[in-house]
Amino acid sequence: MTSKSFKQCVITAIVAQFGRPRGAAGRVVGWVLAHRGSNRERNLWVASLLDVRPTDRVLEIGFGPGVAIAELARRATHGRIYGIDHSAVMVRQASRRNAVAVRAHRVELRHASVDRLPRFDEPLDAIVAVNSLGFWVDPAQRLRELRGLLRPGGRIALASQPRCPGATAGDTARAGAELRDLLHRAGFTPVRVETLPLDPPVACVIATNPAGGRP
Ligand SMILES: C[S@@+](CC[C@H](N)C(=O)[O-])C[C@H]1O[C@@H](n2cnc3c(N)ncnc32)[C@H](O)[C@@H]1O
Repeated sequence: MTSKSFKQCVITAIVAQFGRPRGAAGRVVGWVLAHRGSNRERNLWVASLLDVRPTDRVLEIGFGPGVAIAELARRATHGRIYGIDHSAVMVRQASRRNAVAVRAHRVELRHASVDRLPRFDEPLDAIVAVNSLGFWVDPAQRLRELRGLLRPGGRIALASQPRCPGATAGDTARAGAELRDLLHRAGFTPVRVETLPLDPPVACVIATNPAGGRP
């Protein structure tokens, strides 16, 4: 194997771990996601943009080690925070991080994929996904299904901070434009894009489910 193809294999393996953390390496990935300053800042910022009210019912897709879940639960003091992640390692880490709120039934974390969404007994007020949609197989279809879980006027926030080596502000702007386009095509409206000036910056696109706008 040449040194270039070896490097490529290592990069592919690392990207795969961030898309679905597994085993011992997955536990390290979870630790990095939970403790890296820019990751924490990104998650807290996105949670702040969702304008969570005390009684809100919020779903996070791809919660990783559960940093945003903790912040959402802090804001929805009388609501309920749901999360799904297809990594069993992340479900364990996020459950430990949010153990008190889980025991109080204010947070419910499930081992599930966005490809097969669980049922929720009532419509949701908000949905969020941070650096997760890039790993979904058919994001356009998934977003249409997610819109079906939101109440009319419910919000969605999708955030992206490109993590490829050498990522620039231009990559962030392109990621934001792609997310905005996907949300438009899935029937969400109106759409606004916010940017957090980290290195590289984070784009967060916020949209609402139009009143009476069932998919
Ligand atoms: C890069 S991590 C980001 C974690 C967290 N949102 C953060 O910003 O710290 C991506 C997360 O999305 C999850 N994920 C990726 N594809 C998924 C899918 N199809 N269904 C559910 N979770 C998914 C991964 O398991 C992983 O925990």
